[in-house]
Amino acid sequence: MTRGELLAAVRTQRLPHHVALIMDGNGRWAERRGLPRVEGHRQGMQAAERLIRFVAEERLVPYLSLFAFSTENWNRPQEEVDYLLDLLARFIRERGDEFVEGGIRLRVLGAVEALPPSLQRTIAEIEARSRRGDVLDLAVGINFGGRWSIVEGARRAMALARSDALKPEELDEGAFARLLPTAGLPEPDLIVRTGEEKRISNFYLWEAAYSEFYFTSILWPDFDEDALLAAIQDFQGRRRRFGRVTP
Ligand code: IPE
Ligand code: IPE
Ligand code: MG
Repeated sequence: MTRGELLAAVRTQRLPHHVALIMDGNGRWAERRGLPRVEGHRQGMQAAERLIRFVAEERLVPYLSLFAFSTENWNRPQEEVDYLLDLLARFIRERGDEFVEGGIRLRVLGAVEALPPSLQRTIAEIEARSRRGDVLDLAVGINFGGRWSIVEGARRAMALARSDALKPEELDEGAFARLLPTAGLPEPDLIVRTGEEKRISNFYLWEAAYSEFYFTSILWPDFDEDALLAAIQDFQGRRRRFGRVTP
C-alpha cells in the first residue's frame, strides 16, 4: 500500500483522539551503525519533527504526546544529558514559529524548574505564543515522570485542603485528574513504544488506565509516517471494553 492508500484506509475507521509516543531506541540505532549515541538522538529529533508535521498537516489526530526526557534520564552520562537538553531547546526555539503559524499548540509536561533557565524561558515563550493553536495539541514530556505527575497532583490537593478550598470527601477521580499536570489532555487512546522494550518506563501512569498499547521493534529514528499509520491501523482492530461485557 502506498502512504496515500494507507492514510485513506485509516480514515475510513475511528481514529484515536490522543496518541502518545514513547520514543525509544535512539542509542541502539546509532550503536548499530558504529556512531556515537548522540547521533541517534539527532536523527531521532528529525524523526519527531517529521511526524509532528505529518500529523498536523493531515489532521490525523488532535492530540499527540511525545515522551522526550524522563525523570530517570538524568542518570545518564552528563555529556548525553547536556546534548539531549540542548537538542530539545533547539527544537523548541527553531520550530516555535512553525508551531505558531501551523496552529500547533505546544505544552511541555514535567518538572521544568529543574531545566536550564534558558530552556525554561524558551518553553514559556513558545507555550504562550502557540496557546491558541487549534490544529494539533502537542504535549512534550521533558523531565516528566508518571510518578512525579501524581505526586504533583497530590501536592496541589493538599494545598487546596489546607486553605479549605477542597474537602477530602470532595476529592474523587475526576477532581484529582483536574489537579494533575496533564489536566486538559484527554487520556491517551493509544500508547506506542518503539525500540523493542515492552514497558511504560514511568510515562503516563494515571492516564494510561485504559490506553491501548502498541510495541514495535522499530528503533525511534526509523519510526516514520507509515509506521505510525500501521500502529493506528492495529489500534483500529482492538475491542475496547472499559470493563464492560461488550464494546
Ligand atoms: C530514547 O532513546 C531517547 C531517550 C530516552 C531520551 P534511548 O537513548 O533510550 O536509546 P536506547 O534505548 O539506549 O537505544
Ligand atoms: C523511556 O526510554 C523514556 C523516554 C523515551 C524519554 P528509556 O530508554 O529511558 O527507558 P528504559 O530505561 O529503557 O526503561
Ligand atoms: Mg532507551
